[in-house]
Amino acid sequence: MRFSVLTFLSFAALGLAQSPPHGYGGGDEPVAPGLTFLYRSYAVCGNGLYNTEGPRGIRTAIPILGGNVTGPRIKGQFRDLGADWGVTDVQTGIFSADTRYNLLTDDGANIFLQTSGPAQPSGDLHLRIVFETGDKKYYWLNNVIAVGVLHEVASNATTFTLRIDAWHVSRHEQAGLPDGALLTRCLFAKMTSEWNSTTFINGTTYA
Ligand SMILES: *[C@@H]1O[C@H](CO)[C@@H](O)[C@H](O)[C@H]1NC(C)=O
Ligand SMILES: *[C@@H]1O[C@H](CO)[C@@H](O)[C@H](O)[C@H]1NC(C)=O
Ligand SMILES: *[C@@H]1O[C@H](CO)[C@@H](O)[C@H](O)[C@H]1NC(C)=O
Ligand SMILES: *[C@@H]1O[C@H](CO)[C@@H](O)[C@H](O)[C@H]1NC(C)=O
Repeated sequence: MRFSVLTFLSFAALGLAQSPPHGYGGGDEPVAPGLTFLYRSYAVCGNGLYNTEGPRGIRTAIPILGGNVTGPRIKGQFRDLGADWGVTDVQTGIFSADTRYNLLTDDGANIFLQTSGPAQPSGDLHLRIVFETGDKKYYWLNNVIAVGVLHEVASNATTFTLRIDAWHVSRHEQAGLPDGALLTRCLFAKMTSEWNSTTFINGTTYA
C-alpha cells in the first residue's frame, strides 16, 4: 500500500517535472503538433514507362491506374489518371516520389493530389501531400498540411499496389482545464484538428 502511494507520488513528480503541452505558440517549450488521421488509401500503379537520366537525376513515369480511399471524412476512388514522375538521386540511389493524380469522392467531389517525398531506410516513403479542390464540402483540405506513409503491399508482372496512410498536422488543446493542474493537463491534453470546415466570406459554412 505504502509502496504504491510512493510509486504514484514519484510518477506524479515526474509528470510535474516535465513541461505540460501548451499547444504550439502558447508556452516556453516547443511542443510537437499532433496528427489527425485523414485516410488509408490503396493506389494501383502500372510499370514505369521509362527511366531517363536528366539534370535532376533518373526520372521515371509510373502510371496511377486506380485505387481507393477510406477515412472518417473522405471516401472515394482514384481515377485512372495521373502518375508518379519520381526521381532517383544518382549520388545516393534514393528514390523520391513526385506525383499528380485525382480522387473522385463517393459524393462526387474531384480532389487533385500532389505528393512528393523520399524513400526511407525501411523502404517506405514519407510523403508531403497537397490537396486542391473547388468542392465546398472538402474545401478545408486546401488548407491542411498533410503527410503520408507509403508502403508497397503487392505486385505482379503488370501492376503494383501501394498503401498510403495520410494525416494532417493538428494542435494540442486543453480547453476548460484550470491553470496549475499540470498533471491533469498532461494526462488530458488531446489533439484537435484545425481546419475541418470552411466558412466563405459571404458567411456560408460548409462542414
Ligand atoms: C481498396 O483496394 C485494396 C487494394 O486493391 C483492396 O484490397 C481493398 O479491398 C479496397 N477497399 C475498398 C473499400 O474498396
Ligand atoms: C496483376 O494484379 C492486378 C491487380 O490485382 C490484376 O488486375 C492483374 O490481372 C494481375 N496481372 C497478372 C499478370 O497477374
Ligand atoms: C473540427 O475541429 C473542432 C476543433 O477545432 C472540433 O471541435 C470539431 O469536433 C471538429 N469537427 C470534425 C468534424 O472533425
Ligand atoms: C457563398 O459563397 C460560396 C463560395 O463562393 C458559394 O458557393 C455560395 O453559393 C455562397 N452562398 C450564398 C448564399 O451566396
